[in-house]
Amino acid sequence: MTPELDRRQLFTLGASAVVAASATSVIAAPFAPQNGPAAGNTKGDLKPIAMPEKLKNTAPAGISPKTHEEHFKLYTGYVKKVNEIRDKLSAMGVPDPAKANQTFSEIRELKVEYTFALGGVKNHELYFNILGGQGGAPNGEIAEVIKASFGSYENWVADLKATGIAARGWVWLAHDYTDGSIFNYIGDAQNTFPVWHATPLLALDVYEHAYYLDFQTGRAKYIDAFLKSVDWDEVNKNLAVAKAVATAAKK
Ligand SMILES: [Fe+2]
Repeated sequence: MTPELDRRQLFTLGASAVVAASATSVIAAPFAPQNGPAAGNTKGDLKPIAMPEKLKNTAPAGISPKTHEEHFKLYTGYVKKVNEIRDKLSAMGVPDPAKANQTFSEIRELKVEYTFALGGVKNHELYFNILGGQGGAPNGEIAEVIKASFGSYENWVADLKATGIAARGWVWLAHDYTDGSIFNYIGDAQNTFPVWHATPLLALDVYEHAYYLDFQTGRAKYIDAFLKSVDWDEVNKNLAVAKAVATAAKK
């Protein structure tokens, strides 16, 4: 494992959009089965992160502390649901395939909603961690990657804003390790539509709860405030994780 990649980064970035056999040893450790009776099940002991202090820095741009406070309540709700579902899966033990059903069955409901709950955790942890910076044009390697893929920062901003207005829940800027491309993916919910091999670098929450208190229906104004608050240093760290995954995948 690359030493500079800490557990939180791997936790944040590890599985929401990245599954690759060759990279599993790099990214999957935090989600390894923890003595669950059935392979793949884990204990319901996931803990929420602490609210990053730097989130208060978004206030001048217009995203208020009250919004973050309420938003964090929603996030911790997702953590609780992850744990509840993990406990139910553990209690289920080794599932009986004869009881599984695609229209309705206990395992279907648990596994579908698990992706929603865990997506809700990972998406929000990424979002909270890439906010609270100086915003504006990026620095470091991400600046070069954006320019190489979009032509300019301004083009990327236009694409992000259009994608954010068109989305029902999320935009994820993600790096696809198979070809090194970056793309502003659209997400209509916590669990749609991540793409295999694409590691998220930045998340923009466009659910109304992220902005209604401060901007009412003005989503475009909220996205402007978001762009003034991006922590590019954090995005660059996430890019380092993505490139480490890419390197591991090529071995
Ligand atoms: Fe949210």
